Amino acid sequence: MSPISTRKHGDVLIVTSNNPPVNALSHAVREGLVAAIGEADSDDGVKAVVILCQGQTFFAGADITEFGKPMLLPMLPTVVDIIENCTKPVVAAIHGTAFGGGLEVALASHYRVAVPSAKLGVPEVKLGLLPGAGGTQRLPRVAGVQKALEMAATGNPIGAKEAFEIGLVDRLIEGDLEQHAVAFAEEVKDVRPIPKSSARDDKLAEARANPQIFADFRKANARKFKGFDAPESNIRAIEAAVAKPYAEGVQDERRLFMELMTGTQARAQQYFFFAERKAAKIDGLPDDTRPRDIGRVGVIGAGTMGGGISMNFLSAGVPVTIVEMAQEALDRGTGVMRKNYEASAAKGRMSGAQVESAMGLLKPTLELEALADCDLIIEAVFENMEVKKEIFGKLDSIAKPGAILASNTSYLNIDEIAASTSRPEDVLGLHFFSPANVMKLLEVVRGAKTAPDVLVTAMQLAKKIRKVAVVAGVCHGFIGNRMLMPRQVEAMKLLLEGATPEQIDRVHVEFGMPMGPFQMSDLAGVDIGWHRDPTRIENIRDALAAEGRWGQKKGAGFYDYDEKRTPSPSPRVAEIIADFRARTGTAQHQIGDQEIVERTLYTMVNEGAKILEEGMAQRASDIDVVWVYGYGWPVYRGGPMFWADTEGLGKIVEGLERRGFEVAKLLADKAAAGEKFTR
Ligand code: 3HC
Repeated sequence: MSPISTRKHGDVLIVTSNNPPVNALSHAVREGLVAAIGEADSDDGVKAVVILCQGQTFFAGADITEFGKPMLLPMLPTVVDIIENCTKPVVAAIHGTAFGGGLEVALASHYRVAVPSAKLGVPEVKLGLLPGAGGTQRLPRVAGVQKALEMAATGNPIGAKEAFEIGLVDRLIEGDLEQHAVAFAEEVKDVRPIPKSSARDDKLAEARANPQIFADFRKANARKFKGFDAPESNIRAIEAAVAKPYAEGVQDERRLFMELMTGTQARAQQYFFFAERKAAKIDGLPDDTRPRDIGRVGVIGAGTMGGGISMNFLSAGVPVTIVEMAQEALDRGTGVMRKNYEASAAKGRMSGAQVESAMGLLKPTLELEALADCDLIIEAVFENMEVKKEIFGKLDSIAKPGAILASNTSYLNIDEIAASTSRPEDVLGLHFFSPANVMKLLEVVRGAKTAPDVLVTAMQLAKKIRKVAVVAGVCHGFIGNRMLMPRQVEAMKLLLEGATPEQIDRVHVEFGMPMGPFQMSDLAGVDIGWHRDPTRIENIRDALAAEGRWGQKKGAGFYDYDEKRTPSPSPRVAEIIADFRARTGTAQHQIGDQEIVERTLYTMVNEGAKILEEGMAQRASDIDVVWVYGYGWPVYRGGPMFWADTEGLGKIVEGLERRGFEVAKLLADKAAAGEKFTR
């Protein structure tokens, strides 16, 4: 059965798509749309057409699962042209998300009506692509060049109300969408000539008069777009819309689209789209597992972590009880939260009323007993097993039956923490990344006894607070920090053997990481995990910490910083490194960039393979999600495991062996069998 059905309401042909979950424009949908337009053209009784979708959304785009396979005709560019050339006016009736190819269908329709909650966007850039069905040519003609640039090159959608204000939507519909869309079609059925987006020119005039618009846009977004291919191609396609007639512009669009589609970045970004969605699925849980209700959350610790964690829940409308040991620390913590919210309000990201309503949900207290009515309690105190065990022991007698007890530890053994309670099945790790109110990643650490419904609750809650959750097993550092360790160890060894912090960081930044290992140390604090004894200097890090070079917060770490926190290479650090080279008698050699890649990145892949082998991650793609969302691994390289696949596992194994590393069995086996981690 075709997902596209048609029926007549008077002289309006209603074309309905029913292709759950998101009405992707799969082959059958494209075929059905062409047939429906044919029906409208050939039926004299039809005076206008309404295209709408059943279910949660209007067409959310091309069917991404079809990418990389031979394309079945009709292709989407043909379909949209057929829609635009329909001899009867076509009205797109939009709810949910008109995304990508979906918005292109709407742009080719002669009119667009939408419910106020609808979102319109061209997110192709996030898949390493550009709108390839005329979108780069029609959108600037309808929405204006500046708006089209913003939408296409960033991929961020706009709301229906804004779309209405800029003329992308012709009417906002309150009430029943189908009924009003049909009424709208009745109104416009006799209007001639039928308005075609591709024939419009009025909104291009401004950009023609001010060609600087493109250079300005590139400059304003240079940082955001760095490393990515697709934003620039989107800009070029829109430049073509301004500079060339429509028929030539679409040819440029097609060429640019195909260039992107056959590149590695698009493959990586499309892989990542599905990786992110797969991460939410936990293998092997009983099908009937139901989440527990979470009405109130308790957070222990009002420091940076506890405060950030609390903000996630407050922003999502979940009341939070936050506990500290001293009034001063409690006031300071809640003060920082308010300040952060007010900073968001100052940037226009939330209203004053939203700030007050979030803060109104917060109950600060000095009493651990106040957590008795919480359904989930997250401990976010400093990393010390004894302290954590003591807290969980107390929670065991305070928390109500069925409450979930979570630790935000980034390294410690969750099973050991769980054993300090009489209800280990209610215990798990919820490892937030700093700043916890901003970073998207949440590692959900599954203890040996964690109950299925506790896990399911955590995954559902993560979605509610707009985090991407990944399940990790109990091991030192879980997925993310465990893989960081070999990188840190090798980075320090490289310093001793002749590299500089600047060189190592540069290699990582050129690779696409937001910062290198030493820049990250300076940001997080060189003193983190330091033994705090300035007379005990066993390595370079100890030496820096002993001198108070604790990183950015002290104006000195692996780099020197000025008042604006601009880093510069530090002569003092060079002295410390030279001293350690001499003291340890380490042989020096010329270190090339490739050696840095092999020793700091190949070793991460090797650790990832061990994590998989031990079942600490469910799948290779979960590891990639951790690294993209937790550490800023460039999404256009997919994540460490996808990247290893694109490098070739044989090459990774050869590099590791040549440098004397023990290769993980899974990695060696896969390389030998010519297999990949991610497919
Ligand atoms: N193709 C195929 N499958 C898709 C899809 C698409 N375009 N969009 C979503 N899905 C699938 C997801 O993989 C997921 O499958 P699963 O249940 O098996 O995991 C399911 O639909 C539901 O998706 P979400 O979990 O993301 O559901 P949400 O309700 O959270 O979000 C959404 C819905 C906002 C539509 C979101 O899915 C989304 O942003 N989708 C991608 C939209 C997009 O990128 N469109 C452009 C495609 S490229 C294009 O159109 C090229 C053209 O210009 C030629």
